Amino acid sequence: MNLTYITNSKTLINSIPIERMSEPIIKNIEDYFNGIYLGKTKIYNIPFFLNLNLLTSPHIAVVGMTGAGKTYLIKNFIIRNDIYKKSNMLVIDLNGEYKEIAKLVSGKIYELGTDFKINLFEFLDNNKNNVIKNVLEIISSLIKINEKEHAIIYDQLIEYLKNGKIINLRTFLNEIDGEKFKIIKLKLKQLTESAIFADTTSFKIKNLFDGFVDIDLSKLETDLEKKTISYVLIRSISENLNKIKISQKIDNYIILDEAWKSLENIYLSRLFREGRKYGFSIIVASQLVSDINNVIISNSSSIFIFKIQNIEDFRVLNETGIADSTDIKKILDLNVGECFVYLSFKEENNGIKKFVIKKIDGLPLFKYNFTIGDKMEIEISKEKFNFITKSLRLDKELELRILDFIDENEKNINIMSFLNFLISLNLNRAIIISYLKQIGISDKDIISAYEKLKIISINLKNK
Ligand SMILES: Nc1ncnc2c1ncn2[C@@H]1O[C@H](COP(=O)(O)OP(=O)(O)OP(=O)(O)O)[C@@H](O)[C@H]1O
Ligand SMILES: [Mg+2]
Repeated sequence: MNLTYITNSKTLINSIPIERMSEPIIKNIEDYFNGIYLGKTKIYNIPFFLNLNLLTSPHIAVVGMTGAGKTYLIKNFIIRNDIYKKSNMLVIDLNGEYKEIAKLVSGKIYELGTDFKINLFEFLDNNKNNVIKNVLEIISSLIKINEKEHAIIYDQLIEYLKNGKIINLRTFLNEIDGEKFKIIKLKLKQLTESAIFADTTSFKIKNLFDGFVDIDLSKLETDLEKKTISYVLIRSISENLNKIKISQKIDNYIILDEAWKSLENIYLSRLFREGRKYGFSIIVASQLVSDINNVIISNSSSIFIFKIQNIEDFRVLNETGIADSTDIKKILDLNVGECFVYLSFKEENNGIKKFVIKKIDGLPLFKYNFTIGDKMEIEISKEKFNFITKSLRLDKELELRILDFIDENEKNINIMSFLNFLISLNLNRAIIISYLKQIGISDKDIISAYEKLKIISINLKNK
């Protein structure tokens, strides 16, 4: 063998730059699959599961220009969470974009104004001047008041709040009396019907963390109102964290899409710092990285960067050590749905990882519709239906027969015939009921389907 040849090979090998494998390596397969699947990595095609429990903090930041795929990522995260994990999720939905998803995961939608009301004054106890300014700004965005009236209302509010009394607009109006307030009173009276000047606030913060809850603010006309409501909600959550639940596991999410509207909120920073202790994860999405403050960036262990083009954003990413110049080149090349991922794992799980996801893998949003009588009742994604059916752990053959039945009925399944079919499989009643409930059918509808079947069978017997 020619020694020179070997020496040359070594020299050659040493001169070839070897790129360190940065995509996540599967160390502990169970931990890994305990996460939520989002898509495959670009180089090695490794399925990527986001498991927040392995990371240094539970918070998620999503950035990218308009149309790049931020909302799409969050929606898929919600749907898969609903199928596999069932955490509580609260969406402050500025544009009503999450209503469809709420229906799909059998969540609740609170529409501001109808079933969701706020008495802004209940939130005036701290930092009065600032909040009074906000309230006044809102008032003047809703009705016309001149400078003099503005000043009078301001003084009266300060005066009134000195006593530390909790009030609402209606009682405030009853208290201010006299000729000089006459016109102001008339003007303000119009607002007592509004959703944010209700007599009492209609919800308790802890009740907002119960399954999937969408607070739909899309009916509000001004950004200022949306911003104020987000402020009020975030502040109350942050002040009530300890009352909700202390958990090592992350099982409460707060979703702020288009978060720039809530970002100047000191309580949001507090949530970011303290949320982890209480099992809270906050997901913020924003078009500009530079909108997101340092507390949020430094407390987010998973950062999803879709295509961005703003030079200021690249500077922030570079300064915070999230993306160096090589990473920035990759970010500039991203297409819709592709994103650069930055993860900060706990020490024992290997530190920082950065990689590109080829495409956030959307669920086939193929749905089954369960109907009662003529009206459409329940929509359920195919993936969720299959998951629930599999988790019954039935005999393989029975499982296949159920899936076949569903397919034969093409997407529109009548609850009565489905129930009849399940009974014909000799499944016990407790299993059937729990199955139907997991699909999302209400107790009332299950009982009534059983009763109707009974009547039909009695009639048949009689015949
Ligand atoms: N991974 C993906 N696979 C398929 N379609 C996608 C993907 N990501 C985004 N899209 C599609 O691209 C469009 C824009 O995506 P999306 O609404 O998520 O953008 P965005 O980043 O939230 O924008 P904005 O800042 O304006 O809210 C949507 O119609 C969505 O369906
Ligand atoms: Mg969006």
